[in-house]
Amino acid sequence: MTTLEKDPRHISVLLNELVDSIEIFSDRQNIVVDCTLWMAWHAGQIIQKMWEWDIFVGFDADGRNLKLAKQNLEKINTKTKIILIHSNFMHLKEELKKVWIESITGIYYDLGISSLHVDEADRWFSFKQDWPLDMRFDTSTWKTAAEVVNFSSKKELEDIFRYYWEDPSFRKIADRMLLRRKEKKFVTTKDLADFLDEILSFPKTKTRIFQALRIEVNKELEAVETSLPHAIELLQPDGNIFVISFHSLEDRITKKIMKKETRDCICSDLICSCHHTKSLKLHSKKPILPTSEEIEFNPRSRSAKARWATKL
Ligand SMILES: C[S@@+](CC[C@H](N)C(=O)[O-])C[C@H]1O[C@@H](n2cnc3c(N)ncnc32)[C@H](O)[C@@H]1O
Repeated sequence: MTTLEKDPRHISVLLNELVDSIEIFSDRQNIVVDCTLWMAWHAGQIIQKMWEWDIFVGFDADGRNLKLAKQNLEKINTKTKIILIHSNFMHLKEELKKVWIESITGIYYDLGISSLHVDEADRWFSFKQDWPLDMRFDTSTWKTAAEVVNFSSKKELEDIFRYYWEDPSFRKIADRMLLRRKEKKFVTTKDLADFLDEILSFPKTKTRIFQALRIEVNKELEAVETSLPHAIELLQPDGNIFVISFHSLEDRITKKIMKKETRDCICSDLICSCHHTKSLKLHSKKPILPTSEEIEFNPRSRSAKARWATKL
């Protein structure tokens, strides 16, 4: 076995919990999918548990992160077949079909951004430096954050801030943004950060607004909502799904989708007309949280919550 050299810029969250949750079977071919590969630290640990006839598939929407993952995975001494897919995990089912995979034995998500997105000058996820206001994981898709703040209608801006940020001052932010962009468009992260400094009383709010824009730009919630039901459908009996979230809305969606799959009927009719049958066993109603030791070692892990379920 070869251990990967760790990059000090990124420490995997809930590493042991995730690796232990993804069972590697000895009586069948394992097909495990990592939906958010980045540095492939979680992936490296999983691959080292897999057999030579198994298949590991890694997704990342960010082509540059996928390249780094590839370099890291090449250092592992393994015979497991590794397939890397440059795509949003929203397209999980179609992308797997393209490589002839129609069922899997394990799948996991470590949602959100990588440290590279915050640290590299052209990734623009943070207001700590003056960067173009872009925020896309995949630079070939959707709108940039600048297009969202400069061209969305008042209602669209209000909806973004109300839904992703859940704060009553969403109207004020949208109103002021409209006035500001009439005088001068937002071009860089500093433009937006300076504007927010002028109108907000709490610095923490600025971080939440940047986060709301990032979630909107990358359609992050839609991706989770679309992908999780497909992942559950693709799982073979006894296969595991593990989802790490850093945002309460992502965790809420995960919880809702998993809970629905633990029930036999989801309609309220007197005589069931939905014919839904349960397909998952949840390992606990409460989310899995990092230990105090992990939080002390890696403070970024403090907002992580994971949910783990097994296919029936
Ligand atoms: C927190 S990092 C994953 C870290 C990784 N588990 C590790 O320990 O090395 C999240 C990664 O997922 C990617 N990502 C985020 N949303 C995605 C999506 N909807 N589809 C595919 N990749 C996504 C990001 O580009 C980033 O590289």
